[in-house]
Amino acid sequence: MSNDMGHSRKQADAVSARTQTDVAAFLAAGTVEPSRVTLRAITAGDQDEFLDLTAASVDLHGPRMSYPTTPAEFDAFLARFDHVTMQGLLICLRESGAIAGTVNLNSIIRGRFQNASLGYAAFSPTAGRGYMTEGLRQVIGYAFEHLRLHRLEAQIQPGNHASLKLVQRLGFRYEGTSPDLLFIAGAWRDHECWALTNAMVAPGPWPAHPTQPAH
Ligand SMILES: CC(C)(COP(=O)(O)OP(=O)(O)OC[C@H]1O[C@@H](n2cnc3c(N)ncnc32)[C@H](O)[C@@H]1OP(=O)(O)O)[C@@H](O)C(=O)NCCC(=O)NCCS
Repeated sequence: MSNDMGHSRKQADAVSARTQTDVAAFLAAGTVEPSRVTLRAITAGDQDEFLDLTAASVDLHGPRMSYPTTPAEFDAFLARFDHVTMQGLLICLRESGAIAGTVNLNSIIRGRFQNASLGYAAFSPTAGRGYMTEGLRQVIGYAFEHLRLHRLEAQIQPGNHASLKLVQRLGFRYEGTSPDLLFIAGAWRDHECWALTNAMVAPGPWPAHPTQPAH
């Protein structure tokens, strides 16, 4: 491993540790319903399992997803997480610890917004069994109860039926369609915007994040 790579791995480990401290504190609070899955921060040590799973999930992910397929891409993926504006989480099977899905909290903005944008994918070996629904319920709890966010959004292409079903199961509401929102697979694509606020989720409300203005 080159010095540069060693340095970036150390940084990634430090970010993962910060995120894992928060996730562990949320899970220890005991508000999560009994579940077949649990959450944890993604780490550099997940590289081999993650790359095996992305390779096995090419058909499921299709051209619209761009998860890493090589060690260098995995390093670049991890380097995007800084804990403050972007966090990388994994949904893992409780029994075996195997990774069932990946969830990013992207574009975390504080102040008057208190919002994050969700990115997520299942992996083929465990897709279609409800693990993403259970795992994302925990992500929602973590985002609202622990991170004190006010709103989570998901931008979904109109033809992505599995993803649309998933957010509807989770209680998100349709807010409208943004034309040409994201550059995906070589073109600017329309996306439906689906969002959930903490007021839509029992048993809130929780105290506001310290960066939220009083007025
Ligand atoms: C979108 C995506 C994450 C959904 O993943 P998923 O595995 O279908 O989601 P779940 O784990 O919640 O599984 C739900 C399915 O499992 C079924 N299921 C089977 N056993 C179940 C159980 N015990 N409990 C709940 N659901 C169960 C559900 O009926 C549901 O099937 P349906 O959608 O045909 O009704 C997945 O299709 C994916 O990775 N797509 C490619 C990436 C992508 O598009 N990401 C989102 C970009 S916006």
